[in-house]
Amino acid sequence: MPTFSIIPTISDLLAEATAKLAPHSDSARLDTELLLAFVLDKPRSYLYAHADEKPDAERFDIFVGLVQRRCQGEPLAYITGRREFWSMELVVNRHTLIPRPETEVLVQQSLACLDPGPRSVLDLGTGSGAIALALAGERPEDRVVATDISAEALAVARFNASRLGISNIEFLAGSWFEPVAARRFDLIASNPPYVADGDPHLELNGLPYEPVTALVAGEDGLDCIRDLARLAPAHLNQGGYLLLEHGYDQAERVASILAEQGFTDIQHHSDLAGIPRVSSGKLA
Ligand SMILES: C[S@@+](CC[C@H](N)C(=O)[O-])C[C@H]1O[C@@H](n2cnc3c(N)ncnc32)[C@H](O)[C@@H]1O
Repeated sequence: MPTFSIIPTISDLLAEATAKLAPHSDSARLDTELLLAFVLDKPRSYLYAHADEKPDAERFDIFVGLVQRRCQGEPLAYITGRREFWSMELVVNRHTLIPRPETEVLVQQSLACLDPGPRSVLDLGTGSGAIALALAGERPEDRVVATDISAEALAVARFNASRLGISNIEFLAGSWFEPVAARRFDLIASNPPYVADGDPHLELNGLPYEPVTALVAGEDGLDCIRDLARLAPAHLNQGGYLLLEHGYDQAERVASILAEQGFTDIQHHSDLAGIPRVSSGKLA
């Protein structure tokens, strides 16, 4: 926003930054408020209560730089290093997928599948730890295991667990079930990579900033889901559940994959837009 010759008030700064960001973001006003609150190290409400104040020159310059990054398409969560998920503030970085609201459907359905009493739960491909942390936080008596092939992502997940004071999670590095050897669980949840190689969406909405290993899964996007459905029965207790997040148009194919591996009671679960984004099956 080099149009300012002197530092503007918070109110004017927000208006100007919103106008600059509007062509690049559907949530320009919210983005600018979150960025300014981040730079000022204050809650968003501060911006309204102190609309006539002016930030100091150093913070003004930092804010201008961050708005510029956002205009270039960098996701807000990578700029601030934070993302809200299941009412928890998670630290994220370029090694972790940014947790999405639709993944909360996976958490919700997992909670619905789990009987009372201590249960064992496995989150495969935990990234920032979002699913494992939500489940472990809601069910402190459970034993949760979280795996990821990325050591860097696991370090972030561990850091989030310690920041949030959640201690009933074991973090293990390795490919899918490899780190859990022959252990069995009452419920396995995963939000695996499910975007097809070369899908044009990979160029949009900040996806170029996210780790490709968190996104892409072969020609039809279902390579990981096929592997997980094939391997899961050997790691589930009788009557255990497998819940998988998938793409907006993959529900029917995921249901067939689950049925081929002997899962029963296959159900689809929709996000707030009514799109089936999670499918579950039970081991008979
Ligand atoms: C779509 S991201 C999901 C991250 C997190 N669970 C979430 O919902 O925000 C997929 C995750 O799977 C991990 N992953 C990819 N291939 C893997 C493999 N073979 N074994 C274990 N994790 C893998 C990636 O590193 C990434 O963290």
